[in-house]
Amino acid sequence: MEQTFPPLKNDLLLRAARGEQTERAPVWVMRQAGRYLPEFRETRKDHEFFEMCRTPELATEVTLQPIRRYKGLVDAAIIFSDILVIPQAMGMEVLMNPGPFFPDPLDTPSDVSKLSPTVDVDKELGYVFKAITRTRTMLEGDVPLIGFCGAPWTLMGYMIEGGSSKTLQKAKTWLFKYPEESNALLFRIADICVDYLVGQVKAGAQLLQVFDSNAGDLSPYDFITFSLPTLKHIASKLRERLTSQSLPSVPLTLFAKGASPTLAARAGFDTIGLDWTVDPRDVASLPVEVALQGNLDPSVLFGGREAIEREVCRMSQAFLAARGGVCRGWIANLGHGITPGVEPDDLKFFFECVHKYSSPGSKA
Ligand code: CP3
Repeated sequence: MEQTFPPLKNDLLLRAARGEQTERAPVWVMRQAGRYLPEFRETRKDHEFFEMCRTPELATEVTLQPIRRYKGLVDAAIIFSDILVIPQAMGMEVLMNPGPFFPDPLDTPSDVSKLSPTVDVDKELGYVFKAITRTRTMLEGDVPLIGFCGAPWTLMGYMIEGGSSKTLQKAKTWLFKYPEESNALLFRIADICVDYLVGQVKAGAQLLQVFDSNAGDLSPYDFITFSLPTLKHIASKLRERLTSQSLPSVPLTLFAKGASPTLAARAGFDTIGLDWTVDPRDVASLPVEVALQGNLDPSVLFGGREAIEREVCRMSQAFLAARGGVCRGWIANLGHGITPGVEPDDLKFFFECVHKYSSPGSKA
């Protein structure tokens, strides 16, 4: 059953995600609830990272912090959580000290038997659903709420490496040495992603984003072989389930960092996230119905106002050119998450520049 929430006052994000033309680009940033904000650090100093994820009051509070600070400038909220809650739900211990750490990662395929045979997402991840419902209510319809999960390949990487890894050598060894077992694990994760995302929509999420942050570590062939089928599975099963349960057919975004956008587009999501290594004009051949999200280099936010304005202007011209000179199907964002150390007023200036330069009439 779907809940009732206050009516949405700003639907720019949802219209752009459906490939529609908008008066300007909607804008939000990945990791907008994070350590660059003093109010986040203040809340965080008294709580462990995953304690914050598991406590709906705290998750809601930090989700709303950037919405309050950048009222009228930011066009979406993203629920505060982490992609690693799925491995936790599968029975793995995950700590954050300060990066992700799995004390007992998967070493060989026989370790997969240590994972819970089935995952009841309401039981294991109900705290996320509660945080979503609470946040959506407290947003009072100001902006839409984004839900998310990690892509199977990215999650499998963390489960095998036991944390962040530069080379993903262990996880990639699995792909080449145990392709069948890898595929089985990837699809097992994909099915949990589907249940989890359906639960998020039931709870009130209005757009969903899947993060395949490690996609760029795969060759195009291996992305097609191992990751893409699970992403297609997620998009198609999710849509089927939303329809059969009479839930809203929310737009789906795929952020496959480092993967070729034309390959990523084959997964069948509504929006494709671009990292900053992509020139939007180079993906102009994608159908205009496929929306694009991105893609300012997060480091530009350290470059001062002049650089921010110049680069937002340049980015806007590239996205408008890619869409035939109009602002159509473009969601402005960074090309990856915002990093600690950014001056919050510089992010405010970034938002103001997007408002200024993303409408076709604006002049450099
Ligand atoms: O975007 C948002 O504001 C919503 C919250 C969010 C977090 N993590 C909070 C977080 C989202 C969408 C994520 C996704 C996530 N988590 C990804 C995919 C996006 C990406 O960056 O590629 C990944 C790979 C993770 C795993 C993860 N969580 C890592 C590698 C780290 C450490 C990185 C770092 O910046 O130190 C985290 C920790 C994390 N997740 C923080 C936040 C705010 C910082 C931790 C802290 O407060 O101590």
